[in-house]
Amino acid sequence: DKGNHRHFMQKEIFEQPVVVAQTLQSYIRSVEQQVALPQMDFELSAIERVTIIACGTASYVGLIGKYWIEQLARVPVEVDVASEFRYRDPVLSPNMLGVVVSQSGETADTLAALRHMKAGGVTTAGIINVPTSSMAREVDLLLPTHAGPEIGVASTKAFTCQLAVMAALAVNLARAKGRLDAAEEAEIVRHLIEAPAAINAALAHDAEIEAMAHTIAQARDVLYLGRGPDYALALEGALKLKEISYIHAEGYAAGEMKHGPIALIDEAVPIIVIAPSGPLFEKTVSNMQEVRARGGKVVLISDADGLAEAGEGCLATIEMPSVHPLIAPLVYAVPVQLLAYHVAVAKGTDVDQPRNLAKSVTVE
Ligand code: F6R
Repeated sequence: DKGNHRHFMQKEIFEQPVVVAQTLQSYIRSVEQQVALPQMDFELSAIERVTIIACGTASYVGLIGKYWIEQLARVPVEVDVASEFRYRDPVLSPNMLGVVVSQSGETADTLAALRHMKAGGVTTAGIINVPTSSMAREVDLLLPTHAGPEIGVASTKAFTCQLAVMAALAVNLARAKGRLDAAEEAEIVRHLIEAPAAINAALAHDAEIEAMAHTIAQARDVLYLGRGPDYALALEGALKLKEISYIHAEGYAAGEMKHGPIALIDEAVPIIVIAPSGPLFEKTVSNMQEVRARGGKVVLISDADGLAEAGEGCLATIEMPSVHPLIAPLVYAVPVQLLAYHVAVAKGTDVDQPRNLAKSVTVE
């Protein structure tokens, strides 16, 4: 049932404050101000490396997880798409944690990668939405997301719930590795608890994004730029736009522009820049200026500080609430999803059932 929404995708985008809160609730002990994982029969402190395997949108959760886990726990993380990982004879070791991320828990390549890791003696964990799925049954440690059924083919609420669980995993690993004291953890818990309200604030920009979607819908190509976790969001934005609006889109690490992709820029290519203010903001802004100098039309997604500094001269700006860097990807995912959604609606494509795609990819 779509309720009063036009599409399941729209309904699922708007469910995010509730389902992210639900998911966080099962990982946060608010009285102790701690992040907790379900009972496990292995020692997290013995983990020396992490490998995250997934497909599509779920693989971008892995890229963001890499930033979080390496920064908080100082454990090296490798991220790969399942279809590459399973066939490349990866180096496995007993001190490694293999993490699969999947909404359906049935994606053929991810399931095969999970079985490959298990056969190689690797301890596995799964961030999975469907609790009865094959992956949920086979992982050593099930880390459920509580997104509820996701009907729209384009993943939205599963993505932000996966991020919430990935953050919980990063914090637990950091504590197990002696990298996080109680005060630091309590502060992280406070920020995580703020995520649903911040997602709500992001959703409030829906009408504004709908208005600019008509311009983007005219484009033949769209570029998305970001750094750090926002690079993963750039990839996610481009994937979402491609799959539901059929507009060609690419996500790039902002710093890579001058190594080739900048040749694509002209007046006809909108560039979506995802850049919360922070230590890397200046760097991204200078990449944005390079693009603008070549006639590129920029849509800047940032917070009040970022927009005050660099919002002038953009085709459009979208103001996100100011949030802690750990929850920023959960918040900045929202305008990226809404933009793809409204562009697809403006183009009149079948938003919930895009051509050539299936919700659960059980063949390789
Ligand atoms: C994109 C999308 C896909 C899935 C991918 C993995 O919007 O939905 O890229 O993320 O097919 O599916 P799961 O998470 O079920 O393994």
